[in-house]
Amino acid sequence: MIKTKLTQLLGIQYPIIQGGMAWIANAKLAAAVSEAGGLGLIGAANAPADVVRGMIREAKALTSKPFGVNIMLMSPYADEIAALCVEEGVKVITTGAGNPGKYFPAWKEAGIKVIPVVPSVALARRMERAGADALVVEGTEAGGHIGEITTMCLVPQVVDAVQIPVVAAGGIADGRGFAAALMLGAQGCQVGTAFICAEESPAHEEYKKLVAQAKDTDTVVTGRANGHPVRSLKNRFTKKIVELEKEDGSFEAVENLTVGSYRKAVQEGNMQEGTFMSGQIAGLVKEVRPAKEIVEFIVGDAQDVLKNALSKGGITIE
Ligand SMILES: Cc1cc2nc3c(=O)[nH]c(=O)nc-3n(C[C@H](O)[C@H](O)[C@H](O)COP(=O)(O)O)c2cc1C
Repeated sequence: MIKTKLTQLLGIQYPIIQGGMAWIANAKLAAAVSEAGGLGLIGAANAPADVVRGMIREAKALTSKPFGVNIMLMSPYADEIAALCVEEGVKVITTGAGNPGKYFPAWKEAGIKVIPVVPSVALARRMERAGADALVVEGTEAGGHIGEITTMCLVPQVVDAVQIPVVAAGGIADGRGFAAALMLGAQGCQVGTAFICAEESPAHEEYKKLVAQAKDTDTVVTGRANGHPVRSLKNRFTKKIVELEKEDGSFEAVENLTVGSYRKAVQEGNMQEGTFMSGQIAGLVKEVRPAKEIVEFIVGDAQDVLKNALSKGGITIE
C-alpha cells in the first residue's frame, strides 16, 4: 500500500486525484473514484452555482468518502461556488485559471484543504505563501488548458521550491508514470485523460473511442499565440482552428470559432464541430473500464514497478 503525505492530508486510501474535468467530472465519476479509494473531484467549470450544489449533494448520496470540487476561478459563478463549498461541507477544493487568495480565509476557517493547480515554480511559491495545503503541478503533456513546461521538468523544480506536498499531473495513466512521479518527489498524482474512459464518465461514447484509439502523436495544442493553450485530439475541427490561427490567432477570433465546441464533443461526440480535449498519454489508454479498475491498475502497477524497477529493467547498481 502506498502511503504518502497526500493520503494523510486528505484521509484517502490511495494518493490519486481524478482531475476536475469540465463537463466530464460529474458526481457519478467523482463518487466512483472516491469509493475506489482515490479522491474524486467535481468539475465546476462554468456551471451555475445551483448546478454545482446539485452535483455535490448527488456525490454525498453516492459516497461517504471525501471528495472535492475543482473551481475554475474565471467562472462568473466562482464567488458563489466558493461560498457554497463551505456551506455544503466540501472537504477539498482545487482551483485553476486564477489566484484563489481572496477565498483562503473562509476556506481555511471551514477546514477545507486547498490545492491550487500550478504550471510554474513562481505560482507554486505564491500559492504556498497564500496558505495552500498542497499543489497540483501540471505539465504541458496534460489535456485541456495547459502550461509550457513538461511534468518531468516541472515537478522536481517545484518539489525543491516548496515545503507542501506536490501532486504531479500530466502524462500519467499507469503505474510506471505514477512511480516516476513519486521518484521526482511528488506525493501523489492527478489523472485526467485516463478517466475520460471510465465507465462512469459521462463523455460521449465517440469521445471515449477516440481517446482509446489515439496514438502518441494524435494531440495538438491550439491557442498558444494568444496565451490560452489547449491540448485536444487532432481532428477536422482542430485543423480549422490551426488554419484560422495562421490568419488571426487573437483570443477573440479563436473563441468565436470554438465557443461551445468542447460541450459538443462531450455531449454529442460531434466530430465536425467538437474539441475533444485530451492529454498526450491518450496513446496509453486502450479501453473503457470502471473507475475502480483505473485507480487500482495505476496504484497496483506502481507498487510493482517500485519494488522491481531494477530487476525488471535489467539494471544493476555497482
Ligand atoms: C477533457 C479535460 C478537461 C479538463 N478540464 C479541467 C478543468 O475544468 N479544470 C481543471 O483544473 N483541469 C482540467 N483538466 C485537467 C485535469 O484536471 C488534469 O490535471 C489533467 O488532465 C492531467 O493530465 P492528463 O490529461 O495527462 O491525465 C482537464 C483535462 C481534460 C483531459
